Amino acid sequence: MSEPAPVAALPLAAAPMAGLTHSAFRRVVSAFGGCDLLYTEMLAGAALLQETPDSPYLKQRPGDAPAIFQLLLRDERRIEAIVARLHPCHPAGLDLNCACPNNRIRQAGGGASLLEDPERLRAILCGLRQAWGGRLSVKLRLGPSPVPRWRENFQDRLRLIEDCGVDAISINPRFAEDRHARAARHDLLPWICALTRLPVTANGDILGPETIARNPANFAACAGLMLGRIAIVRPWTFAAWRAVRPLPAPRELALQTWQSLAAGILEDFPPEKALEKLKLFAVWFSRNYAFGHTFYTAVRNAPDWTTLHARAEAFFAANPEVVLQPSLVDY
Ligand SMILES: Cc1cc2nc3c(=O)[nH]c(=O)nc-3n(C[C@H](O)[C@H](O)[C@H](O)COP(=O)(O)O)c2cc1C
Repeated sequence: MSEPAPVAALPLAAAPMAGLTHSAFRRVVSAFGGCDLLYTEMLAGAALLQETPDSPYLKQRPGDAPAIFQLLLRDERRIEAIVARLHPCHPAGLDLNCACPNNRIRQAGGGASLLEDPERLRAILCGLRQAWGGRLSVKLRLGPSPVPRWRENFQDRLRLIEDCGVDAISINPRFAEDRHARAARHDLLPWICALTRLPVTANGDILGPETIARNPANFAACAGLMLGRIAIVRPWTFAAWRAVRPLPAPRELALQTWQSLAAGILEDFPPEKALEKLKLFAVWFSRNYAFGHTFYTAVRNAPDWTTLHARAEAFFAANPEVVLQPSLVDY
């Protein structure tokens, strides 16, 4: 096995985030630079069969960072057709979502519920491995809840994942029941890395190099770092981390980001859908500002694109104060 990369050189990835990591967002992050890998939002298998490669969920542009397509599957049916549909998009890899704690998704048999049903998990992973020769990964949490034998159960799932020929995992070291309310348990990462021969990408509460610098040993055996909410609030986080280019001052940077994301969303989605997507982005982007709730409220209630645009411009014209550390609380 090769030596792990020094922590400072670990590849950086943007996490899959439903409704948010669409192609317009991926273009904005790619244009800033510094991000090595972008995940699509979770893509439901059945819905994927209706999408074409130029859909706003799938499309990529030359110059975009490589994209891993994340799948939300509840059984092994139609895997071959789903993978065939993705082939023309040239994914850098496919990822199976075994992490989503959302009740509706779990009750439907997807996301974190797969970890509770090893036979279904095995059937899906074997189906994917058979249909897809490229990089195959799994995103997971520690399990549903900290029941007495959770460590053994977690180890069993890792073994199953390895046995099915998966190439890599990413881990959000929380239980499904924690959602985002509890801190990610970075102290568990060395143990997790020692349990498996697979490369492990760490996720959860990683905000920048300062997170790693606080305790580099926690991340020393990891193969990569994945950033979620902070990447939505500040899509320039990767560029700042890697210092790939001089960035404008915070106010200008935030304004430019909003404008390019809004333009990209409008270009990719029909107007009604575009409005919905920009409002969703605004939930997180508004955290950049000391009075971000006024921005978000104005945007949320906008009945159409023109009104939304005018309200956003009025907010920016008042030269709003940008905060040093945005809140990432997931309400
Ligand atoms: C709004 C939202 C949507 C998310 N959607 C997905 C998703 O589609 N697939 C997935 O595996 N995780 C999803 N996640 C979880 C993130 O990928 C990530 O694991 C989590 O936010 C922890 O990382 P962070 O602390 O850097 O935000 C989502 C999280 C949020 C807040």
